[in-house]
Amino acid sequence: MERKTLYPTSHLYNLAILAMLSLGSFPSSSSLSFDFYAASCPSAEMMVKNTVRAASSLDPTLPGKLLRLLFHDCFIEGCDASVLLQGNGTERSDPANKSLGGFSVIDSAKRLLEIFCPATVSCADIVALAARDAVEFAGGPAVRVPTGRRDGKVSVAANVRPNIVDTSFTLEEMVKIFAAKGLSLDDLVTLSGAHTIGSAHCSSFSDRFQLNSKGKLTRVDASLGKDYAAKLAKQCPAGASLSVTVNNDPETPALFDNQYYKDLLLHKGLFQSDSVLVSDQRTTNKVVELANDQQSFFESWGESFMKLVSIGVKTGDEGEVRQSCSVTNG
Ligand code: HEM
Repeated sequence: MERKTLYPTSHLYNLAILAMLSLGSFPSSSSLSFDFYAASCPSAEMMVKNTVRAASSLDPTLPGKLLRLLFHDCFIEGCDASVLLQGNGTERSDPANKSLGGFSVIDSAKRLLEIFCPATVSCADIVALAARDAVEFAGGPAVRVPTGRRDGKVSVAANVRPNIVDTSFTLEEMVKIFAAKGLSLDDLVTLSGAHTIGSAHCSSFSDRFQLNSKGKLTRVDASLGKDYAAKLAKQCPAGASLSVTVNNDPETPALFDNQYYKDLLLHKGLFQSDSVLVSDQRTTNKVVELANDQQSFFESWGESFMKLVSIGVKTGDEGEVRQSCSVTNG
């Protein structure tokens, strides 16, 4: 007769887990969770929030920069802080990332975290949390962000262009890139609402109108309002310094609200990629919904933001927790 096992298999499994835990060999969690740092660094989120608040109070351009930094991080190699790595040929060195900012805020938060919780909190989590806090600082919704991301070791400039959206893209081209990241048409409309804060350099939209030698408008994109174009042309005259910037949202530039969608309906979308959202029925309905109801925008934002911060994350034993955000541990 076959000998009966002393313990049911589930009991054996539990014993094995206990043994692995006591030996410290249990693989770390392989997915994001809301309480990831509850035991290892309970103040982690508060430290990031305080850093973002303090920096943004001194420099109001930072919330926009921190939010865009997350977008450019997550679309290339997933949300793994690959955008922060410095050096020849890294994502950060690519011309498409030239105007990114907010790096010093991430570095400050990391320095603080390394003092209180050494080698614990990833730079990828700091980027995601800082973007969330930036939105809240600007008056947007406070959303929960799961943590447990690990930092990537790969950052290649050549991967930037094929994965990022350009202002000249058609709706179809944008939908394709977003879909490749698991984001829907509605996510595209909702996340584009990020352009309710922050600013842009003249070169990002100046091909939408033409000025003659006397500074008069001679050509304006059909999707751009004439008065708005004239205002932009004034802010970006021929020969303007390359550092000149214009607010993305001409009405409430520092406030994270649903004004961006109202602007779109009034033909005041700054980029061509903003304007195309009201050129197609598939996206126009969502724009109208969000323009009419800020609460609806905030709810959609919570859902789409959650998808954004979860793109291609590395967890468990993948990647590493960097000691300094701009270099791999080596
Ligand atoms: C859908 C396609 C998108 C395109 C084509 C696009 C393009 C751009 C461009 C060209 C700028 C101005 C850069 C400059 O001249 O300095 C900009 C700014 C910005 N973008 Fe987007 N973007 C897109 C989607 C997003 C998404 C999904 C987010 C975040 C969720 C985002 C957040 C921002 C923010 C906050 C700024 C202002 C940055 C600052 O103030 O420095 N964008 N975007």
